[in-house]
This record gives sequence, C-alpha cells and structure tokens, in this order.
Amino acid sequence: MQNQSELNQIKEMVYDQVMEEAGLGYFYKFIMPEEVLVGPGCVRKIGKEAVELGNKALLVTDKGITNLNLHSSTVRSLEKNGVQIHIYDQVQSDPDDKVIMEGVRTARDKNVDFIVAIGGGSSLDAAKAISFMLNNPEPISQYEGADKIENPGLPLIAIATTAGTGSEVSVSTVVTDSKRNKKMVISSKYLVPKIAVVDAELTSGLPASITAATGIDVLVHAVEAYLSKNSITISRALADHSVKYVVENLPLAVGNGENIEARHRMCIASLMAGMAFSNVGLGVCHATAHQLGTTYNIPHGVANAIMLPAVLKFNKLVSKKQLSELAHSLGAKIEGLTEREAAEAAIKEIKYLISDLGLPSSISEIGGSKDDFKSMARDALDDPTLATNPRKADLSDILKIYENAF
Ligand SMILES: [Fe+2]
Repeated sequence: MQNQSELNQIKEMVYDQVMEEAGLGYFYKFIMPEEVLVGPGCVRKIGKEAVELGNKALLVTDKGITNLNLHSSTVRSLEKNGVQIHIYDQVQSDPDDKVIMEGVRTARDKNVDFIVAIGGGSSLDAAKAISFMLNNPEPISQYEGADKIENPGLPLIAIATTAGTGSEVSVSTVVTDSKRNKKMVISSKYLVPKIAVVDAELTSGLPASITAATGIDVLVHAVEAYLSKNSITISRALADHSVKYVVENLPLAVGNGENIEARHRMCIASLMAGMAFSNVGLGVCHATAHQLGTTYNIPHGVANAIMLPAVLKFNKLVSKKQLSELAHSLGAKIEGLTEREAAEAAIKEIKYLISDLGLPSSISEIGGSKDDFKSMARDALDDPTLATNPRKADLSDILKIYENAF
C-alpha cells in the first residue's frame, strides 16, 4: 500500500497528464440536454415527457406567443397528462433582471415543480434565468460570466419557436442588466434545458424578416463555433453541417414560410449550431454584435449579419484553413483554388447570402454613428464571447472592425 505522499504524487501526475491533453485538445467535455425532441408536430407529445418532472409548471413566454395562441398545443398536451399550468407571458425582447425576478416571484407564489419555456431566444433565455434564480441568491449580476452558478435550477423544458438562437440546447443565457443597460452573458452547465424541443410547425407563421434574421444568427453560431479556438472534431462536424443546411434552406424558408421541409431543416441547423457553440464558444462577431444590438436597438440576428463579413476579414489571418474548409458547405466553387482563395470565396458567399435575404449589411444602413464606436468597442472587449475568438483582438482591432462594418 502506498503512503499518502506517493498517492499525492500519482494524483499530481494524472492531473498533469489530463491538463496537458486538455491543452492539446485531447480532453474535453461535451454538454447537451438529456432529451431532444425534433420534428413537425412533436410538441403535442411533450406532456408524456413532462410527467416525471412534477404536476405544476410555470409556462414562460411572451405576449406575441399567447396572442397567436402558439402555446395552446403545448398546454393541451401538458394538461392531458395531469400537469397544472400557470402562464407568465411578461417576457419582452432582450429580457432584463426585473422581468426575471418577477418571473421568480410568480414561480414561488405558484409553487411550481418545473418550468416550460416557449418562444424565441428572449423567452428561452428568460426561462433559463428564472429557473436558476429560483435556487440561487440575488442579485443576478453576480453570475455574469462562466460557471458562477452554484445550485441547479428547476428542470426546464425549452420549446423553440424560431430557428435561431440555439438557446434550447445551450449552456448560456443573455440577460440585460437594467442598471448598466448592458447585456450579461451567463453560462453554466446548470442552464442547459432538461428537454429541448424543436418543432417546425411552430416556426411556420414567422414573418420573412424574422426568419431571415434568426436564420443568419444560426449561420453565425455555426461559423464562429467552427473557427473557435476551442473547436473540436464533434463541434466542427455539427457546425459544418449546420452551415450547409442554412445555405440550402434559409432562402427557401424566407421565400415561402409555409415550406415545412425547409423550416424543419432550419430547426435542425439551429439545433446543431447551438450544440456546437454551446460547447466551444463564439467569437468577435457576437462580441461586437451584442453592443450594436443594445446601442441601436436592432434584432440580434441583424446585428450579426452586419458584423460577420468584417469579423471574418479580421479572423482570416489565422483562420484561412477553417474558412477554406467551410467554403464547400457555403456553396462556393473551390476546385483549383488555393487555401487563401477558397477562404475569400467563403466570405463572398456569406455576403451574397446576407444580401439575397435583404438584411442590412452596414452600420451606416441602420443609421449608426462612428461616435458610438469607442464605447461599443470597450464593452465588446468585456464580452465573454470574445475569449474563444481564434485571433486575439484588442481595442484598436475592434474599432477597426466597426469601421470596416460601417
Ligand atoms: Fe447568436
């Protein structure tokens, strides 16, 4: 039998080896929801999956969903299986801490066993925050960043009604701090929903402009995950396939919202990109787009569409190989091209797609001003998504990226 100091030595050796493998990218963990339900109409099966979570649930959503009655099949399925539902539909776009804490009070008041979220990124993110704040002390701002949440929240079923955010499978939530008017990115394994649901039927009524903006967000998730400095084989496989699905199906879904096949494939693209970025992170595009969204009050996907080409131009220095690999899935003709040419072709295809979808392609187009660049760049430097960008970016780099996107 070894003595304590020998045991400690062995422990240290194992630790060193694991850390070395982690550094080389050989050791990693991949976090996903326990269950993922996919397919048109699958929301009608949610009740059966939910019964083991309890018999009282808070349904977190927004007025847009309840006015359109988009939550009715979920509610029917849950009630049929004996689950009592209380609806909290106060979520607004870019939810702030006040909306979250009101949801927490309602959940406590109703003594619910679990949370069901239905909606786009705002409703899903709000539900994630409500769920963890039920079991963790205030204020919510102390959890900004990665892995600061100590206790798991209430179980969450996340039902996506846009093919965009990937929030239904991701480890993060974005909450606006009302005091600082700043978006806080909070990430933790405790934020991954227990059950993720993507049902294309729920997305079929979305207007073309929202389909385009949320769809480009999917593309940005996939591209940033592919280029991420933490990228791994599994995430690259998911991201590459997601890019291919977006390029093939987003124009069809925007052109005809009733094309359920295209909608279904966009749902899967969103799911795959969400699984990828949730595990390996994003990059400068999200870091700069978050500030653009807050400053000019434009949708997240639109902000990403504006920033992406300028960000890729910046990242190309270190990501030529990765961009050239994505070129094929982006639909570029790459036979006979050098790596540099294929990378350029990839960026060109992305610009064409953004323009074809009718999304704005510059900050000037949305009425932005260069006077805001300094404060946006400073906030972008603090954005946690910056940490996994493949190229290191300082304040002057970010200012230049905003200039290029102007
Ligand atoms: Fe995003």
